[in-house]
Amino acid sequence: METVYLDNGATTPICKDAVDAMNKVISEEYGNPSGVYTKGVEAKGIINRARTDIAASLKAFDNEIYFTSGGSESDNWALVGTALKAGKGHIISTAIEHHAVMNTLNTLGSLGYGISFAKPDSGGFVSADSVLSLIRPDTFLISMMLVNNETGVYQPVSEVGAAARKRGIIMHTDAVAAVGKVPVDVNSLNVDLLSASAHKFHGPKGTGFLYIRRGTPISPFIYGGGQEMGMRGGTENTPCVAGMNAALKYSESHFLDSVDKQKKLKQLLFDLIKEKIPDVRLNGYIDSDKTAPWCLNISIPGIVGTSLLILLDMKGICASTGATCNQSSKEPSHVLTAMGRSKEEAASSIRFTLSFENTEEEIRYTADVLAESVRYLRSMN
Ligand SMILES: Cc1ncc(COP(=O)(O)O)c(C=O)c1O
Repeated sequence: METVYLDNGATTPICKDAVDAMNKVISEEYGNPSGVYTKGVEAKGIINRARTDIAASLKAFDNEIYFTSGGSESDNWALVGTALKAGKGHIISTAIEHHAVMNTLNTLGSLGYGISFAKPDSGGFVSADSVLSLIRPDTFLISMMLVNNETGVYQPVSEVGAAARKRGIIMHTDAVAAVGKVPVDVNSLNVDLLSASAHKFHGPKGTGFLYIRRGTPISPFIYGGGQEMGMRGGTENTPCVAGMNAALKYSESHFLDSVDKQKKLKQLLFDLIKEKIPDVRLNGYIDSDKTAPWCLNISIPGIVGTSLLILLDMKGICASTGATCNQSSKEPSHVLTAMGRSKEEAASSIRFTLSFENTEEEIRYTADVLAESVRYLRSMN
């Protein structure tokens, strides 16, 4: 068996449409989008087209999409940009956010902003009430992710966003684990700010966007030239923006058309693992209305997740323990511990993130290798 790639939550293989679009821009359409001559106008056209297409996908206006260097920058901009405008006050988020949100909020906290984190239930769901009960008279921003990247659990962004709007509070969602994988509509979500990253939906790394609803009070993020409507200076990354636009089209058509297939594969993987390793514990939910169909996070008692990853890798299987960018950290997942898992349970977790490209054969192979590896590790204990 060749590589079985079950780490699509970490990153996705770039699709051919994106590579073709990028190659064309790199080799032929290399002009500076600010140039007044034909090559510049051509490059500007690529940026404008991507802005229009991405806006249409999100049901936004063209001038509400701002290109960034990825999910981390978009999150940083959303939080720091609104905090700078507000000057002081209180921000609410959740205890299960990605570190791009968590660490930015901790920094804002050290600068004097009030920060509160709502806790999830044991399945990783943060209720709207638990967020709304934290509102104070000086709350100016709520940041709640749309799909949790470690468990796949959907969060009630639309409900929180509607309540935030009634109170004049800005609503941000980190939708990095959602865009391209589930339908995302900024209006039905009731959000003012939304972060996305191209490499999560078969696009290039180091590229993303921030949706900023018209009229949202937010400062520019990079001071420089007048690019990105004067909000983010710097010559635009034309090849990657073109690649991201192509990838979003590719991903939406394939992901959204294959939801049933992914659900079946995820259920099959969990059923096979349960059969072979009866004491396995699910981190999240298996029912489809609470969780994204592509993410399965489990804990296996007595096993260290990172040791398991090495054995899986020896058999060609790519998976991860929690958030991949935190893989080298000795700390157990903050998401799983917030859900009430002990440090040992969190350290024994493993996450499989599927895509429409996976097959039943790969899932059966993975379950067999996993069971064999767990038997081996337990015998060593
Ligand atoms: C939920 C979430 N937010 C933000 C990020 C950061 O995105 P990027 O890698 O594009 O900086 C990630 C990446 O894993 C993520 O999963």
